[in-house]
Amino acid sequence: MKKKVSVIGAGNVGASLAQMIVQSGIADVALFDIADGVPEGKALDLSEACPLWGSSSSIVGTNDYAHTADSDVIVITAGFPRKPGMSRDDLLNANAKVVSEVTEKTSKVSPNAVIIVVTNPMDVMAQVSLKVSGFDSFRVMGMGGILDSARFRTFVAWELNVSPEDVEALVLGGHGDLMVPMPRFTTVKGVSITELISKERIDALVERTRHGGAEIVALLKTGSAYYAPAAATYQMVKAILFDEKRMLPCAAYLNGEYGANGIYTGVPVMLGSGGVEKIVELNLNEQEKADFEKSVSAVKSLVEKLNL
Ligand code: APR
Repeated sequence: MKKKVSVIGAGNVGASLAQMIVQSGIADVALFDIADGVPEGKALDLSEACPLWGSSSSIVGTNDYAHTADSDVIVITAGFPRKPGMSRDDLLNANAKVVSEVTEKTSKVSPNAVIIVVTNPMDVMAQVSLKVSGFDSFRVMGMGGILDSARFRTFVAWELNVSPEDVEALVLGGHGDLMVPMPRFTTVKGVSITELISKERIDALVERTRHGGAEIVALLKTGSAYYAPAAATYQMVKAILFDEKRMLPCAAYLNGEYGANGIYTGVPVMLGSGGVEKIVELNLNEQEKADFEKSVSAVKSLVEKLNL
């Protein structure tokens, strides 16, 4: 039997992710949304593409949580995206309500699933989902670091005129304006970019990465990025379904690691069928530590606003 992934929210991110999963054939998909007809229509369209893709995945579009039952992975993309001028944090209250509702409904019918939260402000929404689901924290995580690192990789690749595939990057901290791109841990085939790019240019690439999401919002005007967010989530889904033990930056619940307690933030983890199977602690220098702490404090102050 195929594995099952429920994608909650059939908007831009959810539908793009559903396409990647179905096209690659790695799992069956339940695509859920409250909008009438939209998940059904997109699922039917994707089903009709399967013969062309040579995929035997099945996809159902639905307004009924019963169809999400017994999922291996639940991905939460439901909620509202940013408009120009908005930060991810401006979505706090509206999206907390949505994430709380969809977590409650989905976790009840898929008690053994791993939950990946994409809805912004993501680190805080992961905490909402943890609380409402009552799952162990290693089974609830957020998607942010892989996307932010992919943006950093792209900008570094353009700067050096090399393939983005040969660039590895690391971005830690909350998935917000205070995220912490880590040049020291960003390499081209093993060579740190601190040896390849001037400090001034690295600073510019770091700044562009921090505002990578806003740059796209400003261009699109009616919503936020979705191809790269979906691709980043796909990488997490695949690592979990196939127990790949990938080392990826994800929002994980910290219990003393990096000196933080009881809070979600982006750190390198090992992702496998158990979810976050390990949190990898790096030796940060004083500046990196200070930047990381600032980013964690920003997440904390949002969590406090919600009185979780
Ligand atoms: N239950 C289920 N679906 C819901 C609910 C709910 N209570 N409320 C809203 N939705 C659905 C909407 O109907 C819509 O189809 O969530 C979907 C969101 O899709 P888009 O508006 O296209 O937003 P998208 O770009 O996919 O972003 C979704 O991911 O990256 C983050 O910041 C982004 O928080 C946003 C989320």
